[in-house]
Amino acid sequence: MNYDSGRTRSSLARMTKGKNMKALNEIRIGKALGFIFFTLYGVLIDIVLFSPLKIFLLRLAGAKIGNDVVIHKVRFFNQYHHGFSNLEIGNYCFLGDEVMLDLADKIIIEDHVTISNRALILTHTNVGYKDHPLQENYPRIFKKVKIEKGSFIGAGAIILPGVTISQGAVVGAGAVVTKNVAKNTVVIGSPAKFLKKLK
Ligand SMILES: CC(C)(COP(=O)(O)OP(=O)(O)OC[C@H]1O[C@@H](n2cnc3c(N)ncnc32)[C@H](O)[C@@H]1OP(=O)(O)O)[C@@H](O)C(=O)NCCC(=O)NCCS
Repeated sequence: MNYDSGRTRSSLARMTKGKNMKALNEIRIGKALGFIFFTLYGVLIDIVLFSPLKIFLLRLAGAKIGNDVVIHKVRFFNQYHHGFSNLEIGNYCFLGDEVMLDLADKIIIEDHVTISNRALILTHTNVGYKDHPLQENYPRIFKKVKIEKGSFIGAGAIILPGVTISQGAVVGAGAVVTKNVAKNTVVIGSPAKFLKKLK
């Protein structure tokens, strides 16, 4: 029987009614199992101290990662949707400590990209359960983020869903990037604004 069939769903709904398991009802059992597996896999990646071993485990779970990449203590979340296949990293990239990557949609990081400590890259918005009052105003969205070659993301910057950071751009520390950033451009602040053009 298909895990997502109506019958399974309604019996699951009966079993979990009033038991604080609304989340399980909404994501369904197949996704819940995926959630458990990939959360544990994320913990394994987390406790592995050495970048080459982290990269090996990420590739094994579907990520595409090039050569000469260093991945420090990066945290991944929402990998239960598609495993790690939403993660693509080119060559010669560096991802610092406590960078957080939302793998609900694709994150594409091209060659020679540096992402500094505590930067947060978001690829989805979900205000809550399907019947959350704000769903009407802000329905769930998923949008990929692309960071083109030779860019630099400063410490603590936040990149919102759908944004492209174009080739050779610089995002200042603490910036909140809500729109695409043009080629060779430096942006700072919240929301991120133009600071200067680089040659
Ligand atoms: C964005 C950045 C590269 C700009 O450097 P710069 O071109 O040398 O710019 P300046 O230092 O001359 O600053 C220019 C103006 O922008 C402001 N500014 C610079 N960086 C800023 C930031 N991150 N947020 C807000 N304002 C910033 C400065 O206060 C200055 O304002 P003013 O003209 O009103 O005095 C740099 O400030 C930055 O954020 N670096 C990231 C550091 C980091 O994340 N390191 C992590 C370890 S690698």
